[in-house]
Amino acid sequence: MCAMNTQNKMIIAIDGPAASGKGTLARALAKKLNFAHMDTGALYRATAFELIGSGLSTRDKKDAVDAAQILVKKINNAQQPADILDNASLREDRIGLEASKIAAYPRVREVLRALQRSFLENPGKGFAGAILDGRDIGTVIAPSAPLKLFVTASVEVRAERRLKELQSKGLAVTYGAVLKDMRERDTRDTERKAAPMKPADDAVIVDSSDLDAGQMLEKAMFLAKERLKL
Ligand code: CDP
Repeated sequence: MCAMNTQNKMIIAIDGPAASGKGTLARALAKKLNFAHMDTGALYRATAFELIGSGLSTRDKKDAVDAAQILVKKINNAQQPADILDNASLREDRIGLEASKIAAYPRVREVLRALQRSFLENPGKGFAGAILDGRDIGTVIAPSAPLKLFVTASVEVRAERRLKELQSKGLAVTYGAVLKDMRERDTRDTERKAAPMKPADDAVIVDSSDLDAGQMLEKAMFLAKERLKL
C-alpha cells in the first residue's frame, strides 16, 4: 500500500505505452501546475544502461538488481539527481528495449519502487504536487492518486512518432524496425506478471492519436481542475 499523506491529494499518475505522448503531457502539466515531475521510465532505462555499460547482460536478474541498487545510490547521493537521468543515450531505442527486459524482474521493480515512493512523499521544496509517468503509476506506485490518466494511441501512430523523434536526433532508423521494437516492448510490458501495463480501474483513457500536445494539455488541465479541486 502506498502511504497516504496530505501531498497524495496532489498527485497525478500518467501511464501508457511507448510514444503515446504521456511524457510530453506529464512535462507540460508539471510546468503549468508547478508540480514536480518524475519520468519513471528513465529509471528503468538508466538501470539497463548501467548494466550494459558494465558489460553485463539484461538476462541476468541478479546483475540487474545490483545495477538498480547502484543507480538508486547514485541518485540519492547526487547534488543534481536529474542530471543522471538526463543522459541522451538513455533515449536510444535499444535501451528502451533492454529496459523492458529488466522491468519484468520483480526485485528490480521493488528497488526502483522505493525511489518513486520517496519522491511521492517528498517531491521537493516549492512544488504544489507531483506527477509521475510510467506503466504502473496508477495501479501500483500511486493507487490513491486523485487523477490517473492512461494515454494511448495505435501502435502504428506511435511508431511513426518515435521514428520522427529518432530521425530528428540524426539516428538512422527505419519505420519497420521501430514498429517491430515497439510491438515487442508492448507485448512484454503488458504480459509480464510484475506490475503489467494496464489502466487503473478509475483511470481516464485518453487516445492521443488525433490530438496534438496543446489539445492533450487542455484535456488534462480540465480533469486536473476537477479532480484535484485546483
Ligand atoms: O519513453 P517510452 O514510453 O518509450 O518508454 P519509457 O517510459 O522510457 O519506459 C521504458 C521501459 O521501462 C518500458 O518499456 C517499460 O518496460 C519500463 N517501465 C516500467 O516497467 N514501468 C514504469 N513505470 C516505467 C517504465
